[in-house]
Amino acid sequence: MTDDNFIVTPWAVIGDVNYDVLMERFGTQKINTPILDRVSKHTGELHFMLRRGIFYSHRDFDRILDAYEKKDEFVLYTGRGPSGNTHLGHLMPWIFTKYIQDKYNAKLLFQLTDDEKFLFNRNLTQNDTRKYAYENILDIIAVGFDPKKTEIFLDTDYIKTLYDIALDVSKRITLSTAKAVFGFNNSTNIGRIFFTSIQSVPAFLESKRQRKPIPCLIPCAIDQDPHFRVTRDVASALNYPKPALIHCKFFPSLTGSDKMSASKSNTSIFTTDSPKIAEKKIMNAITGGRKTVKKQRKNGGNPSECSIYQYYYYLFEDKDEKVIMLSDDCKEGKIICGECKQILAEKVKHFLVKHQEKREEAKDVVDQFMCKD
Ligand code: TYM
Repeated sequence: MTDDNFIVTPWAVIGDVNYDVLMERFGTQKINTPILDRVSKHTGELHFMLRRGIFYSHRDFDRILDAYEKKDEFVLYTGRGPSGNTHLGHLMPWIFTKYIQDKYNAKLLFQLTDDEKFLFNRNLTQNDTRKYAYENILDIIAVGFDPKKTEIFLDTDYIKTLYDIALDVSKRITLSTAKAVFGFNNSTNIGRIFFTSIQSVPAFLESKRQRKPIPCLIPCAIDQDPHFRVTRDVASALNYPKPALIHCKFFPSLTGSDKMSASKSNTSIFTTDSPKIAEKKIMNAITGGRKTVKKQRKNGGNPSECSIYQYYYYLFEDKDEKVIMLSDDCKEGKIICGECKQILAEKVKHFLVKHQEKREEAKDVVDQFMCKD
C-alpha cells in the first residue's frame, strides 16, 4: 500500500496508517514544542506518551491550556464501546487520561456506548453489550481514576439525562453530513445514523449542568476524531464551547503492523488474559529479527518493524534511555528476539497480575463511580 492508501474510521482501521497524512486528512494540528513546554511547566514532567509523540495530534488543546492558566475549570471526557473485553490498546488513552486528571485536577466523564456496539455489531444483543460494559468498567476503575472526580455511565442507563442534548445535536446534523463523515449508505440502519449525536453529548454535559461554558478535553485514539468533528461543528449553534481533542496513535497488534483490535484475539492481549496465555501470545509475536540467531548476532535486527519493540515503546518502558538502549542493542545484534520477548513477557505478566487484582477490588466500588438516571 502507498503512504496514503489506508482507511481510519471509528469502526475500522485498514492498511498501514501514515499518521502525518491522517492529520492532514482530518485537519488536526501537530502537538508542537511550545505546547509540550507548556504542559511540562504545568505538570513538572511530560508523560512519556507526549515525549515520544504517541499522543501527537490535537484540536484546540492550547485553548484548554489557556483556560488552565487562567484558573478556569475544564472537564475531561473519554469513552469505550463495549463490544468485548478490554485490550491493552484501549488502556493506553485511559492511562494518559488519568495522568491529565491527576496533574490538572480535572473532573472526568466516561461514557460507555453500549447502544453503539449493539447498533454496529450484528452479532451482539443488548444484553451482550451491557454485560461487556460492566466488564470494561472494572478495567476503567482499575486504571486508578479518582472516584471523587470521575463519573462513569452506560448510555442505556443514563439516556434520560443524555437525550435532550442528543436531540439538540441531531437536529443540526444532516444525512448528507453523516454520509460524508462516516461513509454511511442506503443500507445503513437508522440507529447508526443517529448514534453520533449520543457520543457528542458528554462534550456539552458539564456546560449544561453548570449553565456556563465549561471547556472539554477529549483524549482518545485518532479513530474517534470524526465523531467530534461533527460535535465541534454544531457546538456554537447550541451555545456550547467546541470540545478540544488530543489524539494518540494506535497501539499495535503482535504482528507489528495492524492496530491492536479485539477482533484479532491471537495477536491482541486482553486485560482478562491469564499471564500464561499472554506469555504464549508474546512468544509467538512477529519481530524485526533475522531468520537465525547467527544472522541476528552478525547483522542485528530491525526494531522499527518489531511488535515486541513497539510494546516497550508504547506502554511497557517509560524510561527513554532504556528504550534507546534496547533499540541499539537490537540493531547491533547484542540482544536476540527470544531474550527480548522473554523480558517483555515478564513485564506484561507482572502488569496483568497487578491489573487483575485491581479489577477484583473494583467490584466493591463500582457504585461510587456510576451515574444512572
Ligand atoms: P473503543 O471502545 O473502540 O475504544 C476505546 C478507546 O480506545 C481507543 N483505542 C485505541 N487506542 C490505542 N490503540 C489501539 N489499538 C486502540 N483501539 C482503540 C479508542 O480511540 C478509544 O479512545 N465510540 C467509542 C466510545 C466512546 C469514546 C468517547 C471514545 C464514546 N465516547 C469519547 C473516546 C472518547 C468506542 O467505540 O471506543
